[in-house]
Amino acid sequence: MSRMVRLLHEQMLKYNWVGFYLLENGAPGQPPMLVLGPFEGAMTPHTRIPLHQGICGAAASSGKTVVVDDVSKDNRYLACSLETKSEIVVPIFVRGKVVGELDIDSHFAAAFKDEDRELVEYCAGLIGASLAKSPA
Ligand code: SME
Repeated sequence: MSRMVRLLHEQMLKYNWVGFYLLENGAPGQPPMLVLGPFEGAMTPHTRIPLHQGICGAAASSGKTVVVDDVSKDNRYLACSLETKSEIVVPIFVRGKVVGELDIDSHFAAAFKDEDRELVEYCAGLIGASLAKSPA
């Protein structure tokens, strides 16, 4: 995960913040939480995100990729940097269940086209496959 965020952040010029959130299924009575994992870019205030908040919560709870072309027009958006204009969040699955997600922010509006979605979904799939092989 660390190598992947570094590579995407270095090589893709419009990917200005690249990070993983991992789903923590809390203790009984505690709500599940998305917990910040490896990332590249500025520190974010959002280190723990409940599933009903943010673009991140929307992607994890629906199990679907979310692309937002203009974050200022999406009232789910939790601001990480004033410079962020667009965002993509792709869920990561292990055996059909969401276990985390790959989140990318851009300083450019509508930065995430079909080919970006394909690339980020491919990357999320690699991590899902790798997590599936590691002991539970
Ligand atoms: N913007 C995200 C929060 C995470 S930061 O982008 C790193 C959201 O709306 O869920």
